[in-house]
Amino acid sequence: MIIGIPKEVKTDEFRVGATPSNVAVLVADGHKVFVQSGAGIGSGFSDTNYADAGANIAADAKDLYEKASLIVKVKEPQPSEYGFLNEKHTLFCYLHLAPAKELTAVLVQTRVCAIAYETVAVENELPLLKPMSEIAGSMAPIVGAYHLSRYQGGEGVLICGSEGVAAAKILVIGAGNAGFNAAKIATGMGADVTVINRTVPKLEELKKILPNVKAVLYSNELFFEAIKASDIVVGAVLIHGGASAPKLITRDMLKEMKNGAVLVDVTIDQGGISEVSHPTTHTNPIFIEEGVLHYCVANMPGAYPKTSTIALSNATISYVRKLANNGILQAIKNDASLALGVNVYNGVVTNRAVAEVHNLEFREIELILEG
Ligand SMILES: NC(=O)c1ccc[n+]([C@@H]2O[C@H](COP(=O)([O-])OP(=O)(O)OC[C@H]3O[C@@H](n4cnc5c(N)ncnc54)[C@H](O)[C@@H]3O)[C@@H](O)[C@H]2O)c1
Repeated sequence: MIIGIPKEVKTDEFRVGATPSNVAVLVADGHKVFVQSGAGIGSGFSDTNYADAGANIAADAKDLYEKASLIVKVKEPQPSEYGFLNEKHTLFCYLHLAPAKELTAVLVQTRVCAIAYETVAVENELPLLKPMSEIAGSMAPIVGAYHLSRYQGGEGVLICGSEGVAAAKILVIGAGNAGFNAAKIATGMGADVTVINRTVPKLEELKKILPNVKAVLYSNELFFEAIKASDIVVGAVLIHGGASAPKLITRDMLKEMKNGAVLVDVTIDQGGISEVSHPTTHTNPIFIEEGVLHYCVANMPGAYPKTSTIALSNATISYVRKLANNGILQAIKNDASLALGVNVYNGVVTNRAVAEVHNLEFREIELILEG
């Protein structure tokens, strides 16, 4: 198969879809790999590193998309990339289509096979979202603590407090991969940490490893009280299956929060948990509503590409090999976890949550492949 690794064009995105060592694995499997010139620079990989791994270097994105049929990248296609897509392509990357009506329409019109990393599921785990959730979760208290400083517009509370002065209160909503790592790093930074989750088992797991964290089951009253008392709130919930994030924080709740508190809305890639959340960039990460600083960067791990690219590529490589070695259709038929990743196929939306939110026709991928 001919595999293409384009240079990411999303604002402030420095990751790349595959490391040179994983490109070498694909070449050893007998595939031809094109890497766009400069694609790896942000992650510390030169064109020479990729050429040494057996890749061909494509001069630009147009050249790469013309040559390759399986496109392995990090973030969803940006408007400048839409024109490169056509029905010969299988797109394997993060897509987050529930809050992305325009992109969904483009994928339908271009008839690409669009497989989203974030909906590939093995039992209840999301193996291709997990590594980036861990990194984004770990970043959340760091960026929250930074923006709590007075000169960033925050309330001026130091995360760890001081001798005789209380530490900052952090509320983490969601005890999954992002939430657990947010709690872990926040604890290490000396914060006073509470984690709220909708189900008990994740809280029990968390409590075993982080005994100093207050782990509590979600209830409306408790949630509101915790929001009001917090200096930093981290949004880390997820409804599996590709649905939009629930809007747990209303404008009225924001009004009750501390002036200069920070909401790090990690869930922004699925639309965000605050009624007013909208995506921001690493260059301009914050906006303020009702006195609350909203940090809503949808590609948080892109800030640490030397860590994130390796973690992501190591997670995706086994799936890229399944797609390339078996052929796209056979790979999807063989592997139910990969089939769950297919969001759009041949002009039809194959993810129920995405179809429902955009009011588009839905068909099960298995039925399409059978028939
Ligand atoms: N912004 C970024 O750069 C970035 C990067 C990676 C992941 N993410 C996002 O982070 C979010 C979390 O991902 P994850 O991998 O940790 O998910 P996960 O499935 O591991 O954990 C989600 C947790 O949220 C809990 N939950 C769901 N609804 C809830 C509710 N109403 N109240 C309380 N808890 C609730 C679930 O029980 C689960 O424990 C996702 O939206 C993901 O897309 C964002």
